[in-house]
Amino acid sequence: MRERWVIGNWKMNGTLPRNAALLDALKASAPTRAKLAVCVPSVYLAQASALLAGSAIAWGAQDVSANADGAYTGQISASMLQEFGAKFAIVGHSERRLFNAESNEDVAKKADAAAMVGIRPVICVGESLAERAEDRAEAVVCAQLAACAEVLAKFPALAILAYEPVWAIGTGKTATPAQAEAMHAFLRRELAKISAAAANVPILYGGSVKPSNAAELFAQPNIDGGLIGGASLVAADFVAIAAA
Ligand code: PGA
Repeated sequence: MRERWVIGNWKMNGTLPRNAALLDALKASAPTRAKLAVCVPSVYLAQASALLAGSAIAWGAQDVSANADGAYTGQISASMLQEFGAKFAIVGHSERRLFNAESNEDVAKKADAAAMVGIRPVICVGESLAERAEDRAEAVVCAQLAACAEVLAKFPALAILAYEPVWAIGTGKTATPAQAEAMHAFLRRELAKISAAAANVPILYGGSVKPSNAAELFAQPNIDGGLIGGASLVAADFVAIAAA
């Protein structure tokens, strides 16, 4: 039985009072049987750990340095995240690939740095609209996955994969359940080539997941939950998605 997770990605949103209200609402209403987590801006990890400690909701970061320590101004190491109780670190989100020029190799190093200290890397893969139109979607995600093959082989119990078609992120355009399932099944076959244990790595879907489409997406055989952006900022929506 594969694990199922619903993980919120707050991106660069939040204020201390807004976060407190959101986290309190989640604690009060989140379904206890769902595995739920929020990935917050790193400056709010202390707040998340203070408010969520002892609850069923886990927390994490949206990025991590590939380096352990030293002269890397502005970067945050995995062991620093660990000090604040972070269970997850998103790596290779398409916005970081785009705005911070992160390569597949950078993403693999970050995933490895997180897993080395026991933080679960949520490795994001996904194709752009142009790549899909050119029929290159599978080749693109395959290359993104291949760069992380070593990490996936080393840490199959920690790693989580997230398929996030770039054209569906924040656009309101969701991949249809059939489109998403086709790519998840493809990724599952690629994971199985790495190892039997890697074949059981959870694959989350991300990209405009909402309460209205979550149940149908999560019902697909190879979709093990979601990575939720916009809807994770609204307690009622995030809770409804978790319930799905
Ligand atoms: P979205 O973002 O749910 O707002 O589309 C998903 C993500 O980027 O992780």
